[in-house]
Amino acid sequence: MARALAVAEAVRGATSPNPWVGAALVRDGTVIASGATEPPGGRHAEAFVLDLAGSAARGAELFVTLEPCMPFPGKRTPSCAALLIAAGVARVHVALLDPDPNVSGLGIQHLRDAGIEVIVGDGADLARTSLRPYLKHRSTARPYVIARWASSLDGRTATSTGESKWITGTLARDRSHRERARVDAILTGSGTVIADDPALTARPGGVLSLHQPLRVVTDARGRVSPSSALFAAPGRTIIATSAATDPAWRSAISSSGAEVLLCEASPAGVNLDQLFGVLASRGIMSIWAEAGATLLGALFDAGLVDEVFAFLAPMVIGGAAARPSVAGEGVASLSGAARLREATIEQLGDDILVRGYIGAWEP
Ligand SMILES: NC(=O)c1ccc[n+]([C@@H]2O[C@H](COP(=O)([O-])OP(=O)(O)OC[C@H]3O[C@@H](n4cnc5c(N)ncnc54)[C@H](OP(=O)(O)O)[C@@H]3O)[C@@H](O)[C@H]2O)c1
Repeated sequence: MARALAVAEAVRGATSPNPWVGAALVRDGTVIASGATEPPGGRHAEAFVLDLAGSAARGAELFVTLEPCMPFPGKRTPSCAALLIAAGVARVHVALLDPDPNVSGLGIQHLRDAGIEVIVGDGADLARTSLRPYLKHRSTARPYVIARWASSLDGRTATSTGESKWITGTLARDRSHRERARVDAILTGSGTVIADDPALTARPGGVLSLHQPLRVVTDARGRVSPSSALFAAPGRTIIATSAATDPAWRSAISSSGAEVLLCEASPAGVNLDQLFGVLASRGIMSIWAEAGATLLGALFDAGLVDEVFAFLAPMVIGGAAARPSVAGEGVASLSGAARLREATIEQLGDDILVRGYIGAWEP
């Protein structure tokens, strides 16, 4: 199961709207084939390892991180449960049941009905952690949101004059690029696009990754220039805006290659919950929110954040006018402050990354 989990993690970000699943076929204590979900339209992990193993799959034992799927209308690949039965696999270890209503226990039942022994729960905790975005998407119809910022020790993201490049070092910035390559979408606000004109691509190790997440920019008033760098960057862009914006601006944004998505207006701009519902309905399971203090504050105030990646540099900026990492309303009492669960700390050169879960949702 450890092998299955490792190969699944390696394809995270590249399989949406399908989950990133890993599988390993074992015979006489030896892994004879392992592999993970292919990009959409490709094989699921089980089909991949069965193809690799060929006739050696007969009588072998399969370890898989998520319940094998069942057929349903519109499904593009054959049912994995049926493939496992046809291949003559003797025993199947499943880490997690699939909450997708099309599967949800049916895959396991199908295997058991065919006389295959099925053992559930081996590696469940690790699989649940790995699949958090998928599990949230399937159980709430909303994407999993990771709030990311880089700040000084005193929580500032820029000096009082607005200088912000760079607070953290190359290792921390590269880590952000690696995480961008593992999500479906990057979210930012008009304030960041106007101030920094970022490309918002995933470039781990300085190299454009094959998978470029969708870029989503909240811009209720139509302030982003159609000549912004992100429109020319590889990958797709959505500008989430309101119907109150100038139609000429909207058509200039469309001409730059981006999609204009009309959202309901909210006091802070666009209705984020509605936007996230639309993104989820399009198969966006995970969002990396790399935004300024205004949008991050709105996300925290609305309880829309599931995980935090806070990169902290060992420097003090100070100054009442310097920008904070998170603005919004905040909380009035410390007891109301959101605390990270299962927080971890990683050292990246001189910087540290504080990571943890937050918000009401738990898998
Ligand atoms: N250090 C870091 O980690 C980091 C990361 C990213 C950015 N930054 C810095 O952050 C600064 C920009 O921050 P910012 O706070 O001005 O901009 P921001 O948070 O990136 O964008 C905020 C804008 O998004 C729009 N928006 C639309 N709907 C919204 C909603 N429901 N809630 C909140 N905002 C919504 C609003 O503009 P409209 O009214 O026009 O819609 C709002 O002003 C830049 O200087 C950039 O360098 C730092």
